[in-house]
Amino acid sequence: MVSIHRTDISMTGNLMRSNSQCIIVIKELTKDYYNIRAVDHISFCIRKGEIFGFLGPNGAGKTTTVRMLVGLTRITFGEAFICGYDVVRDYRRVRELIGVVPDASNMYSDLTCMENLIFSAKMYRIPRNKRRNKAEELLKFFGLWKYRNTKFKYLSKGLKRRLTIAASLVHDPKVLFLDEPTTGLDVMGRRALWKKLLILRDNGITIFLTTHNVHEAFQLSDRVAIINKGKIVAIGSPSELQRKFSVREVLEISFYPNDIGPSDLYNFVDGAIRVNRKNDHLEIILQDEIRVLKGLLEFAKKTNHSITMIRLRGADAEDLFIRIIGEENA
Ligand SMILES: Nc1ncnc2c1ncn2[C@@H]1O[C@H](COP(=O)(O)OP(=O)(O)O)[C@@H](O)[C@H]1O
Ligand SMILES: [Mg+2]
Repeated sequence: MVSIHRTDISMTGNLMRSNSQCIIVIKELTKDYYNIRAVDHISFCIRKGEIFGFLGPNGAGKTTTVRMLVGLTRITFGEAFICGYDVVRDYRRVRELIGVVPDASNMYSDLTCMENLIFSAKMYRIPRNKRRNKAEELLKFFGLWKYRNTKFKYLSKGLKRRLTIAASLVHDPKVLFLDEPTTGLDVMGRRALWKKLLILRDNGITIFLTTHNVHEAFQLSDRVAIINKGKIVAIGSPSELQRKFSVREVLEISFYPNDIGPSDLYNFVDGAIRVNRKNDHLEIILQDEIRVLKGLLEFAKKTNHSITMIRLRGADAEDLFIRIIGEENA
């Protein structure tokens, strides 16, 4: 049995108090699958009109959280409110207020883009005379107009994703849930989608977006919550997180011969948070640069390697993510 213990929610305390600007309020939300605790007493709020990035590695509990919020899976413990409505008790009302884009598309392969949107509009009980106009507007917005008569199954991955998002907007929801919307898209497809999401946000739609991509979360979101093993380990604006978890520096190093693995260095050198391979060199996320430098010199001497390149650089969002996730695991 999984033991139920309450997590410290003090870091979200400020947010919980200012409920007036919160469009989604999540309190102690928890999900157990048999003996696995997928989501563990998470509490935070999402502000009206923001893009909220829900960032975490695979298996962290992102999809499970979304599924609880949108009524697709039972909540084990805790509660959540969207626009003041309880996602369980007031499910029917909540459903009208939200758009949901699941990680796997729910469009009909043999229907055209236009038909799929009209069908979605029907499902949301949009009056018959408004369905076509809404579909047209969305096809144009997502650059799908010329594919209006193309069957879903013949679209590229990026276009499929766009249609799936379009379909979630037929009823003008206030909140849009997107589960890993850019996974599997190429750089251009990803950028094109980001632009659309920013426009939707500027039009007043609140966006809850899950991603395992650090750069996406940090570039696109107004605020980011980082989830790891079912728990929220950090929350704030990208710049607040950068400040709070300021990573000192990253040291890049190459050896000759080039046969040293990250774990060789990590095990030998003191004062490193993490060592990764990057192309032809290794990079060390530093905790204590002096200890690391001493260790590296000693390592090179002992193993008969020469250091062919050494360079310090500032930390980026990915280093920050590793640091936060790493610290939690430590
Ligand atoms: N239907 C399910 N039955 C049992 N375990 C599940 C189920 N769905 C997810 N899990 C487990 O819950 C955890 C969180 O999964 P998930 O929410 O899908 O993570 P993420 O979306 O962040 O990758 C994982 O350990 C996963 O294996
Ligand atoms: Mg997922």
